Amino acid sequence: MPKSNDEKEDKLIYTDDIIKERIGKYGAIYFPSDIKESIDDILGNEIKKEILDDFFKALKKYNEFTENLKNTKLAPNLTVLLYGPPGTGKTSLTRGFAKKFNIPICVVESDRLVSPLLGDTIKNIRGVVELAAEISKDRGAFVLFFDEIDAIGSERSNIHEVGEIKRAVISFLQVIDRINYEGVPLAIFGATNHQHQLDSAIWRRFTFHFKFDFPDFHLRKKIIESFISKVKNAKIGVDDSINSNLAIEYKEVQKVSKELQAKLGRFVSEFENGLFWQEYRKKSKSTGLLELTIGYSGSDIERGTRVALLKSINTGLLTYDNFYNSLKLVGGTAIHVERQDILSASKQIPNRSKTYTKNNRKLPSGPPEI
Ligand SMILES: Nc1ncnc2c1ncn2[C@@H]1O[C@H](COP(=O)(O)OP(=O)(O)OP(=O)(O)O)[C@@H](O)[C@H]1O
Ligand SMILES: [Mg+2]
Repeated sequence: MPKSNDEKEDKLIYTDDIIKERIGKYGAIYFPSDIKESIDDILGNEIKKEILDDFFKALKKYNEFTENLKNTKLAPNLTVLLYGPPGTGKTSLTRGFAKKFNIPICVVESDRLVSPLLGDTIKNIRGVVELAAEISKDRGAFVLFFDEIDAIGSERSNIHEVGEIKRAVISFLQVIDRINYEGVPLAIFGATNHQHQLDSAIWRRFTFHFKFDFPDFHLRKKIIESFISKVKNAKIGVDDSINSNLAIEYKEVQKVSKELQAKLGRFVSEFENGLFWQEYRKKSKSTGLLELTIGYSGSDIERGTRVALLKSINTGLLTYDNFYNSLKLVGGTAIHVERQDILSASKQIPNRSKTYTKNNRKLPSGPPEI
């Protein structure tokens, strides 16, 4: 039956304010102009970036895209799961893409959906997905990002009744299937640090699975250099020894990598059973930023840089010692997530004495000063 004029006028227009008010109950909403990150801030991850670029292009041209694929029944679900340790760029990269493609994104803390009250979790899950679908019908492409998605339906969630966990999972799956079937320009992202605890039915609902991990030494070098150049942009002097020591260390580490590969006839990861760094330590007497930051996430390196800045802001100069000590102070996340492979690579670091300082001073053995 055609709608009367009155009904048409009553149709809710999702202005920015209404979206904020309604969806704010479930999480944080970011409009493109609020987003500071750019995809270029997250270094590495090149293949993921290429795939996500196609993904977001399809999301922007959703109607055209689904129309073309309609009779094939092959239109992929616009769902992406990002998994891996904290601070490796999962949220920032997604926000960066939302900005690049001018799409609003709501980051839902899945923990907040989960309620010990029977039935409330299901109501919340349905509520947020249905609301996001309505918004995307009205406004065009929209991204719903479930952070800590394992909280829905795992032992980690604070639902204590097993039946309720199952019902929450089923409800999540049903609502996602329905949205996919209805065909709205809504992309659903999920992120988790606990992929092994994620219900396998949830895992399978996602079309793409992207693994994020601690950066290898090539990427750590780039991340360190990028934060150093940001410090320079803030008009704080940066001691040349930081970049020159990093370059020397990188060359040495690369040499060990090539030699190991030649010796064993295969690529040897620096995170493999400590073998790589044991070999490095035999050959090199000095330690540096790349060795220190084994098991650091991009976010740990960022935090270390911020700590170093506390001192540099007063002196106007970021020195090698300050930078090294600040990174050492914040520590790497691998230790907290008990990644034995990575920890076995880094365990000898505290005993290493000689460092790449300009004047070859020993680093203090106690807790480093800021
Ligand atoms: N590959 C990287 N290159 C440059 N910076 C990075 C990289 N990975 C992480 N960072 C830095 O760490 C910050 C935090 O990353 P982000 O919050 O996206 O991590 P996450 O994987 O979502 O973590 P969590 O699992 O804890 O939610 C980024 O804003 C960025 O400054
Ligand atoms: Mg995150």
